Amino acid sequence: MEINTAIQQALETVRKNVERYAASEGFPHVSKGDGKYHLTESTDWTEGFWAGLLWLGYEYSGDAQLHAAAIRAAELLERRLDAHQALDHHDIGFLYSLSAQARWTVDQHEASRQVALRAADTLMRRWRPEPAIFQAWGPEGDPENGGRIIIDCLMNLPLLCWATRQTGDERYTECARLHAEKSLRFLVRGDDSSYHTFYFDPHTGDALRGGTHQGYRDGSTWTRGQAWGVYGFALAYRNFGDPRFLEASRRMAIHFAQRLPEDGVAYWDFDAPQQPGTARDSSASAIFACGVLELITHLPHSDPQREELEQLAMQAVHALLADEYFTAGSAHEEGLLRHGSYSVRGGSSPDDFMIWGDYFFLEALMRLHQGTPGYWYER
Ligand code: GLY
Repeated sequence: MEINTAIQQALETVRKNVERYAASEGFPHVSKGDGKYHLTESTDWTEGFWAGLLWLGYEYSGDAQLHAAAIRAAELLERRLDAHQALDHHDIGFLYSLSAQARWTVDQHEASRQVALRAADTLMRRWRPEPAIFQAWGPEGDPENGGRIIIDCLMNLPLLCWATRQTGDERYTECARLHAEKSLRFLVRGDDSSYHTFYFDPHTGDALRGGTHQGYRDGSTWTRGQAWGVYGFALAYRNFGDPRFLEASRRMAIHFAQRLPEDGVAYWDFDAPQQPGTARDSSASAIFACGVLELITHLPHSDPQREELEQLAMQAVHALLADEYFTAGSAHEEGLLRHGSYSVRGGSSPDDFMIWGDYFFLEALMRLHQGTPGYWYER
């Protein structure tokens, strides 16, 4: 299928969803076995993806309906920031890079630039100087989570680097860089696989142990975590210029690709037994595709692996465009990508639509169609 056709079909679904959800202030999150998005009242980590989908859709089409919906989503997230509502976690980048920062990027809307800067300050409150990390979950001093990082956080760091570029205040980027270094050292294993999470002693900063939250077991490789690493380290290279991050992204990408099944769409965990009925995570493949497309932008044409990586990104996108995965404008389905999984082990939406899968799928298509890279950095 042509990339352009796929974007148009995807936007048919997004437009229908704008109409479906217009009467509520809800944000699509995941489906629960019924092909319909469960809406949140902006209390989760995922609301930015709906905003980001709308901004991408508007950038492609210039459609006033998508623009109005994108502004509304950004305004609802601004209200949440002002109300300090449900922001006691590190996923502030996912929420505000794709809403306020996106609105600044697309519309040069000064008030949204200020919102994104306030969001960066909110994330800075989770900085813990002793382990030199951003604490993922829970309040400061939390006995279980006080010294815990998760690999997903690499995607929250770009908001901080953007804030440095906007304000000249280096502290945002310095903390982000230290966190990325800790992530590289402790989350990426010697064979280029990854831990989902790592625990440090919050008082001494000592490294304690790797583990998982959504993966198959502590030492397994949760595929979405690996994909967050591919994309997150590519962005870390963009922001910090340290070639170790570029190499981490590259090595993690090759590892990801080597462990894909025949149809090219990742199972939910590379170490889960692969048998009939094992859940996929199409969202991991969509994130992977975007991460590799970002990685490639940093490789010279003479790089001996560049062509291979380009092929991997194209294969990932084309695997997702297959009838089994892409809903292609289907009238009754609310998501773009079937067979995502939120938390298979936790029994939560193991074979469903994930709003972040939809966002990264469209981002990958937009990168390929017109070089639009989403909203993770100033263009
Ligand atoms: N960041 C949470 C997840 O990927 O499920």
